[in-house]
Amino acid sequence: MAKTALLAAFSILCIAHSSSDFVPRATGSLDSFISNETPIALQGVLNNIGSSGSFSEEVSEGVVIASPSKQDPNYFYSWTRDSALTLKCLVDEFIAGNSDLESVIKEYISTSASIQGISNPSGDLSDGKGLGEPKFMVNATAFTGSWGRPQRDGPALRATAMIAYANYLISNGENSTVDSIIWPIVQNDLAYVAQYWNETTFDLWEEVQGSSFFTTAVQHRALVQGNALATTLGHSCANCVSQAPQILCFLQSYWTGSSILANFADNGRSGVDVNSAIGVIATFDPEAGCDDTTFQPCSARALANHKVLTDSFRDVFSLNANISAGTAVAVGRYPEDVFQGGNPWYLATSAAAEQLYDAIYQWKKQGSINITSISLPFFKDVYSSAATGSYSSSDSAFNDIISAVTTYADGYLSIVAQYTPSDGTLTEQFQRDEGFPISASGLTWSYAAFLTAAARRASTVPASWGGSNANTVPSTCSASPPTGSYTSATETSWPTAPATSTRPACSAPSDVSVTFQEIISTNEGDEIYLAGNIEALKNWSTTNAILLSAKDYRSADNLWYTELSLPAGTSFEYKFFKNTSGTITWEDDPNRSYTVSQDCGVSTACVNDEWQ
Ligand SMILES: *[C@@H]1O[C@H](CO)[C@@H](O)[C@H](O)[C@H]1NC(C)=O
Ligand SMILES: *[C@@H]1O[C@H](CO)[C@@H](O)[C@H](O)[C@H]1NC(C)=O
Ligand SMILES: *[C@@H]1O[C@H](CO)[C@@H](O)[C@H](O)[C@H]1NC(C)=O
Ligand SMILES: *[C@@H]1O[C@H](CO)[C@@H](O)[C@H](O)[C@H]1NC(C)=O
Ligand SMILES: *[C@@H]1O[C@H](CO)[C@@H](O)[C@H](O)[C@H]1NC(C)=O
Ligand SMILES: *[C@@H]1O[C@H](CO)[C@@H](O)[C@H](O)[C@H]1NC(C)=O
Ligand SMILES: *[C@@H]1O[C@H](CO)[C@@H](O)[C@H](O)[C@H]1NC(C)=O
Ligand SMILES: *[C@@H]1O[C@H](CO)[C@@H](O)[C@H](O)[C@H]1NC(C)=O
Repeated sequence: MAKTALLAAFSILCIAHSSSDFVPRATGSLDSFISNETPIALQGVLNNIGSSGSFSEEVSEGVVIASPSKQDPNYFYSWTRDSALTLKCLVDEFIAGNSDLESVIKEYISTSASIQGISNPSGDLSDGKGLGEPKFMVNATAFTGSWGRPQRDGPALRATAMIAYANYLISNGENSTVDSIIWPIVQNDLAYVAQYWNETTFDLWEEVQGSSFFTTAVQHRALVQGNALATTLGHSCANCVSQAPQILCFLQSYWTGSSILANFADNGRSGVDVNSAIGVIATFDPEAGCDDTTFQPCSARALANHKVLTDSFRDVFSLNANISAGTAVAVGRYPEDVFQGGNPWYLATSAAAEQLYDAIYQWKKQGSINITSISLPFFKDVYSSAATGSYSSSDSAFNDIISAVTTYADGYLSIVAQYTPSDGTLTEQFQRDEGFPISASGLTWSYAAFLTAAARRASTVPASWGGSNANTVPSTCSASPPTGSYTSATETSWPTAPATSTRPACSAPSDVSVTFQEIISTNEGDEIYLAGNIEALKNWSTTNAILLSAKDYRSADNLWYTELSLPAGTSFEYKFFKNTSGTITWEDDPNRSYTVSQDCGVSTACVNDEWQ
């Protein structure tokens, strides 16, 4: 999804507004939150997938939108990364027993075949470059506006999502379906990863051009499992075999000795970024132990990084004030973030939990916890008598540590719970001082991140990707990637047609929360009011008009704002006026006009004005 600096530079975004409407979910146990939220989150994902999701009536079949939000921010697009991470979550849920999900998985795969062939500003399929395009229109056509491109994680993540389903089909004897439909699509994505992994990319937040830990980690994984699939099908992937070890070699360079450097880029940041933890959970392999070279969730490296990462937000958000190390906090993308005010994200806070649930799973499975000087600071925060060495499951300290880390992990999901509104919907972010939900509504990735964390908490883990046989680092790193070959994948007729979906139809909201923002330079004592030609705007009254707040007024950002709940579809005229010690000054004509959205799934809107 798009949190790009390009976007931020071109429009005034809705600021974090009042918390007056935020009714937190009833405080109960984390177990009860999870059991209530899980079906809501799954439905939230399905609502955002065309063509029958309830927020996606204009969306092509199998296309995943990032969010139904069409303005401030406009996320009504399909991102390759968000879509693939979401589908991987759905495939794992399907394999774990939710058979209703198979039709949407097939639709996604069929749509991926055609999306691969779309010429776009990154290029086209002939030399693979078009596969690095980060986002598409919801009707599966090219997005041609300026953007941070290419983003080279997309093909790797898409291959990983499709391979998970391919392996399921193979285990059910449907090899020929995989060979004819899925393998041709996967092959293009593998060829892209092998050819372009050593070129710079925009990161997953679409802001930084350079090299990104997340991208490199998921690229390594894709080639390893891509080669395994090729072998199973009686094919080969020579470029997977030659490049995977070199990507692993490059991956080691992100380790600083004490944490993961999220990006190689000249961006003036500390390098601490949840990109690292998301990369760690996206490459978790339940058969790969606590291996450091693949940054497994329970590796000394990944645990040390978890501490550095989460500690970096303790002083940044006032929500985290006075919460000491070893107790969960609200987690954002990176401490220097200013996008939409720079807030905690649901998906980042869920990722911090998920890494720890993965680690707990692994420690229980192997019956021991090894603490090294690298991971000791992490352990000491949650278990003060921790010392370097090995704790076996027969040792009582083993259970004490498991219990302490479980409490810590649950703390992160409890923060997600605490700032989830009573209807269970998840936006992109929650506000840094007060915790009310803000930014894009119904964010697909927020829901998927909650679902994967909840599954790991229940010890439901994804299949191995072969990490334990792919962790030998070459003694010297080199880079001479091969040129791939690319062929349109044309076969999309499944032997068993996708079942008709039974997802609910679209329903428009009755009211929309509209934030009015007016930029005007004012002096101490001045007040800015809003009035208009509807009753909610006081029929143009100057004595009874709506006072805006200057709470976020800064000398660099002369912002006055207010938030009103208005019926969807209402059209009206309005203007702002200034009251200087009783002297009323209206804005110049013409009157402003506005119509409240009636779009499905859009429950917030933002009006950005400047004094006229
Ligand atoms: C796809 O959607 C865009 C934006 O709404 C529109 O301009 C374009 O005509 C559509 N293309 C097709 C083929 O429907
Ligand atoms: C390419 O690979 C080499 C060897 O690992 C590494 O030094 C270099 O930074 C890489 N560059 C990019 C952009 O990946
Ligand atoms: C499918 O592939 C698997 C793995 O190679 C093999 O064991 C199995 O016999 C194959 N099944 C069919 C129906 O070809
Ligand atoms: C944090 O602690 C300081 C010092 O004890 C106190 O003044 C402040 O009010 C506390 N902040 C919060 C949000 O609890
Ligand atoms: C833990 O450390 C011991 C002793 O160094 C070693 O034998 C064992 O393999 C390690 N276990 C794991 C799971 O890393
Ligand atoms: C505002 O105008 C409407 C329609 O003209 C009228 O019904 C309503 O009573 C007015 N309200 C106020 C507070 O003046
Ligand atoms: C304007 O400000 C004066 C005092 O400065 C106040 O008495 C008056 O009520 C204000 N007018 C409105 C419309 O609020
Ligand atoms: C703006 O609205 C007011 C109140 O309805 C009306 O008197 C005025 O003429 C309008 N201004 C313009 C330029 O249309």
